[in-house]
Amino acid sequence: MFQDKLHRVFFGTIPALFCCSIGLTLVNATARPQAPVTSAAQTKKLADLMPEGDGKKLVVARCHNCHSLETTINAHHDRKEWDATLQRMINLGTYLTDDDRKLVLDYLVANYPPKDADSAATPLATPPSSPK
Ligand code: HEC
Repeated sequence: MFQDKLHRVFFGTIPALFCCSIGLTLVNATARPQAPVTSAAQTKKLADLMPEGDGKKLVVARCHNCHSLETTINAHHDRKEWDATLQRMINLGTYLTDDDRKLVLDYLVANYPPKDADSAATPLATPPSSPK
């Protein structure tokens, strides 16, 4: 009799725990869409969208460990701002040699400029009328 009850408690608890942990995992995943560490597959997908360039490999390798690579490539800054951002990332613990830092800075400045400069550079933008 006692054993029977134990049996029920035991096998009743396991599925409950199982469901509970799945539930928690789902809540966790949906509550934090911008999880601090992105999966390798997601990082690769984002990397495929990035323009080619000398600093690309370094950015892909070093700029996704604390936040998603998306944080990096969604930013739009001029050289001064990128320089300041890079310095902050280095102060936070990003490893970049001086040469690497230069490559990364040039890559980010060339490919992720301020939004206005970005749209001004698109061929579809109407060129400003030339002064007479
Ligand atoms: C050691 C952890 C860490 C690494 C590695 C790291 N970051 Fe960050 N990054 C942060 C933190 C923390 C923040 C938010 C606080 C802040 O902006 O200073 C941030 C914010 C940012 C932002 C948004 C703020 C802004 O200035 O636009 C950008 C862009 C960025 N990082 C780019 C990079 C780049 C580029 C690299 C690779 C060279 C990099 N991060 C590597 C920790 C890191």
